[in-house]
Amino acid sequence: MNKDQLIKTAQAMVARGKGILAADESSGTIKRRFDAIGVESTENNRRDYREMLFRTTQAMRSNISGVILYDETIRQNARDGTPLVRLIGEAGSLPGIKVDKGTTPLSFCPGEVITEGLDGLAGRLQEYGRLGARFAKWRAVIDIADGIPTYSAINTNSNALARYAALCQEHDIVPIVEPEVLMDGDHEIDRCYAVTDWVLKTVFSDLYYQRVVLEGMVLKPNMVISGKKAARRAGPEEVAEKTVRMLKNCVPPAVAGIAFLSGGQDDEEATVHLNLINQLGPLSWPVTFSYGRALQHEPQKLWAGKPENVAAAQCAFAHRSRMNGLAAIGQWKPDLEKAA
Ligand code: 13P
Repeated sequence: MNKDQLIKTAQAMVARGKGILAADESSGTIKRRFDAIGVESTENNRRDYREMLFRTTQAMRSNISGVILYDETIRQNARDGTPLVRLIGEAGSLPGIKVDKGTTPLSFCPGEVITEGLDGLAGRLQEYGRLGARFAKWRAVIDIADGIPTYSAINTNSNALARYAALCQEHDIVPIVEPEVLMDGDHEIDRCYAVTDWVLKTVFSDLYYQRVVLEGMVLKPNMVISGKKAARRAGPEEVAEKTVRMLKNCVPPAVAGIAFLSGGQDDEEATVHLNLINQLGPLSWPVTFSYGRALQHEPQKLWAGKPENVAAAQCAFAHRSRMNGLAAIGQWKPDLEKAA
């Protein structure tokens, strides 16, 4: 393991004013996104869409430190034959790769899932490293409902996350450790706080036992937030205050950085929250974004699969990236949205 290189890469992923673009939608997920905009999910359409994002030079240079790719994308070439990985590198950003194989029901734990993909992971990491990946992502999913999450689901998922992180570092790839507590239910914010606190404490204990170098990893957590269907949803100040309190209680200062998932928050909501969180600083870590939907929602809609819409979609992607880049340093303002 080259520890210095891992640490340098992890720091670059959370560089000031920059965050990560999660463009690693699995085949099923990207099909659902394309269905919503009336585009057929063919290999070429997926390539065209993602190439459009990676060619948004302004966003990539200024605000996107790294891009999480899917297995298909890391092997794909742009229309002109340039590998997409090279496009990302030439724009000054780092290519990364989703390495988990999605979730499956967890035995004897109704309603809960376990993330798969550990078998053979060492070999896949070697190949992804040769293809240019500098970092990886593994997403564990914890749902909140009556009687769940269970101790079993949290421990099993946490153990897999830590095993994955150790394997990545052994192969000089920075792990993004993503334990996502879903915001799909009707739970109140304090339930999200309690569950996220439990999950992160378990994860950092497992990372310790698996000997993971905290300076060479990035944590990708959910914010502490009310369920989407909650009767009363907490306001942005409460989200920011509780998220910061939870992080301070759970995340060792040695961790290279924190990059939130958006998890179904509206585009601007995800920016407002990140901004308020950073305004509660100084914090022990750089705190930024690793958004999928909250960065791509608008550009996807504008693009709608039509070449004549590319410029408008790139403009929207550059705008959202810049807004989140500002939020990552607590300098976003609402009038910047209106001005655009
Ligand atoms: P969202 O920001 O859409 O939640 O996606 C981030 C991600 O990478 C989930 O694994």
